[in-house]
Amino acid sequence: MPTFRSTNPARPAEVVAAYPEHTAADVDTAVLRASEAQRAWARRPVPERSEAVAAVGAILTARKAELAELVSREAGKIRVEGGGEVQEAIDMAAFVAGQGRGAMGEVVPSEMPSKMAYTTRIPVGVVGMITPWNFPMAIPSWKVFPALLAGNGVVMKPSELAPACGVAFMDACVEAGIPADLLQVVHGGPQPAAALAVHPGVGAVSFTGSVPTGRRVAAAAMEVGPKLVSLELGGKNAMVVLDDADLDLVLDGALFGAFGTAGQRCTSTSRLIVARGVAGEVVTRLTERAEALRLGDPLDPRTDVGPVITAESGDRIIGMVEAARSEGATVATGGELVRDVDGCEGGTFVRPTILTGVKPTHTVARQEVFGPVLAVIEVDDLDEAVDVINAVEYGLSAAVYTRDLNAALRAVDAIDTGITYVNAPTIGAEIPLPFGGTKHTGNGYREAGTRGIEQFSQVKTVYIDFSGRLQRAQIDNREDGA
Ligand code: UN1
Repeated sequence: MPTFRSTNPARPAEVVAAYPEHTAADVDTAVLRASEAQRAWARRPVPERSEAVAAVGAILTARKAELAELVSREAGKIRVEGGGEVQEAIDMAAFVAGQGRGAMGEVVPSEMPSKMAYTTRIPVGVVGMITPWNFPMAIPSWKVFPALLAGNGVVMKPSELAPACGVAFMDACVEAGIPADLLQVVHGGPQPAAALAVHPGVGAVSFTGSVPTGRRVAAAAMEVGPKLVSLELGGKNAMVVLDDADLDLVLDGALFGAFGTAGQRCTSTSRLIVARGVAGEVVTRLTERAEALRLGDPLDPRTDVGPVITAESGDRIIGMVEAARSEGATVATGGELVRDVDGCEGGTFVRPTILTGVKPTHTVARQEVFGPVLAVIEVDDLDEAVDVINAVEYGLSAAVYTRDLNAALRAVDAIDTGITYVNAPTIGAEIPLPFGGTKHTGNGYREAGTRGIEQFSQVKTVYIDFSGRLQRAQIDNREDGA
């Protein structure tokens, strides 16, 4: 069987792991195994399933340092981000475990006497998951824990760029006592992913990644028979800075939002929509701060910005900067690849980049960059800022910085995104709250939060008639004839 290798993006000659390239036949075997194990799992009481999820949290906690280092080595995240990633999975375990002790439905008064009506949640069977490299443990945790709690088996295909992180996460689950057959991992690229999406034994497909791939996955999945398909796609997240904003706070937030994780979060800030009156000062000070960020080995605690995931990704990002320049934008800082970072032989880094003079119509103002590039767009006021924010096809995350409460709340009302922040950057969503976006960012599902489970279960409505006689519904038998 052909194999592929994942490498350290900081030093691509360093191989992190090697896995077989699975085929559709392997996916078939995985689905079958997960589906057999699922039948027994679904019979376990929900609180028992939630105890198993809590046990995974304990293993992740015990292994946090080791797993965080793996995230840094395979996905290029700096140390504190690697740790934050594992912590997010730990928090998710605690949250989902708690959900298993809470209500899973509603009791509704019946229209008839001596009859009860309630809803509950039932598993979908096997959930197929296609997960990205940029949160290679946290995103599996958002998907796997609620899927397990709902009584499902899982077949996950982690990104071929960070498969070892996915495997380490699943290993932790098995070590904590989740039946090994219940959690299957398949490896490779589009081939196993496509096979998973169309497999008749898969009841729900959960995908995080790009818009074009998400569309293909969803279309293929629906082609073979309706199934639940939840999509978490791109973003073109904006931070609005009004002229009364606390500019120190703005600088910290913009720097973290745009250049944290080397701009490779789906929530990364990629547009700074700033009131004309303060734009000059913001750009000057932000440029200075961006230039002081240290590129380096993600494992070196002094590093602020790690590599981008691949050399191709670096070329694509710089290509977008070049296109912006040709459309009339100016590179205030950055805009170049750095390939000679100390101790990072062969790694590709993108210098934190700020583009000024960007118009809302420019490609760089509309398309996701997925790199450390911030496009500055000047506006006259809040209304114009909101128009610019909402003019893109994405709707994941947005932020507004102002000291004016009324302006902040007007912005919150008018911004068409799934997540909106006031005086905080566009990244950093917390797991007890729903995560997801509007428009092309998704198809209406939310991950995490109390509604996360909806991706992986169906609602069952139950009627119990204890009157001992036929009570006819939809038959008008009221005596008053009303
Ligand atoms: C992603 O980049 O796909 O809100 C998810 C955040 C993180 C999740 C990002 N909690 O920035």
